[in-house]
Amino acid sequence: MTGQPYRHITVRPLHPLFAAEVTGIDLTQPLPDDVFAEVAAAFDEHSVLVFPGQRLDNDRQIAFSRRFGELEVMLKGVVGEDRHLAGISNVDPKTNQIIPADHPRMLRQYGNELWHTDSSFKPVSAKASLLHGREVPPSGGETHFAAMRAAWDDLPAEKKRLCERLVAEHSFVYSRRQVVKEDFLTPEEKAEVPPVPQALVVENPRNARKALYVASHAERILGWPEAQGRALLDELLAHATQPKYVYTHRWRPWDLVMWDNRATMHKGSAYDYRNHRRVMVRTTVAGDAPTITADEVRRREAEAATLAA
Ligand SMILES: [Fe+2]
Repeated sequence: MTGQPYRHITVRPLHPLFAAEVTGIDLTQPLPDDVFAEVAAAFDEHSVLVFPGQRLDNDRQIAFSRRFGELEVMLKGVVGEDRHLAGISNVDPKTNQIIPADHPRMLRQYGNELWHTDSSFKPVSAKASLLHGREVPPSGGETHFAAMRAAWDDLPAEKKRLCERLVAEHSFVYSRRQVVKEDFLTPEEKAEVPPVPQALVVENPRNARKALYVASHAERILGWPEAQGRALLDELLAHATQPKYVYTHRWRPWDLVMWDNRATMHKGSAYDYRNHRRVMVRTTVAGDAPTITADEVRRREAEAATLAA
């Protein structure tokens, strides 16, 4: 679809490197296959799609999301009744009141303000996330996206060769500790999210485009001394989040924004948690396979020491 006009939808780029607004489409109605095919092509091309003015309910958001694949089931305690939906919100759905800013449900969300990619702490990380703005604050609460394909493309060749031979270990417990020093996860919750290996570079099989794959969940490089792995991860994160790679989305009510977790990172921004309501609902499309096989993890980990020298 690259370079070709879309017949059913209008696609307007929002940033020189990625992200586009899609209009001329009503997601409250089932999409014919040919229209959906254009949306899917735009998604592969632009990595972040913004659909303004979509008055979806939970069922319609789930139905549209399912067109892209199986949905992830959220961690216990993250959601309300339906574990396919994650509430990114400071409003308690039962009482409709603002949740105290130091409540564990809020503490858990502050980690979203670190650069990350959804579910990279799971063995099979997420393919896509769809976030719907039901109530948005008058200021703050923006979502920033980083173009990880461009960040990859611009790395020096030597650094690319190194990244392609290494494995990062991602941990939910690690990333949450960066934000909230106190331990707010129960032993049962921690047991649900043991650290997992992830490739440092991933490729979209549909268009063979490569992207750097790091996140605040990335704790260490397998087979490397801790400080050296940390230095590389910090360097890659700093590289990928330079302003030239970042698109900032300022939410309007009823925006649906979907992003490719294997081609972007994102982070939320602070807002007035105590006084302004922000109610967002996320659905997450599961990945098809791990970013790296268990055999390849073992092979790279064994070889990593020679690369660290
Ligand atoms: Fe996220």
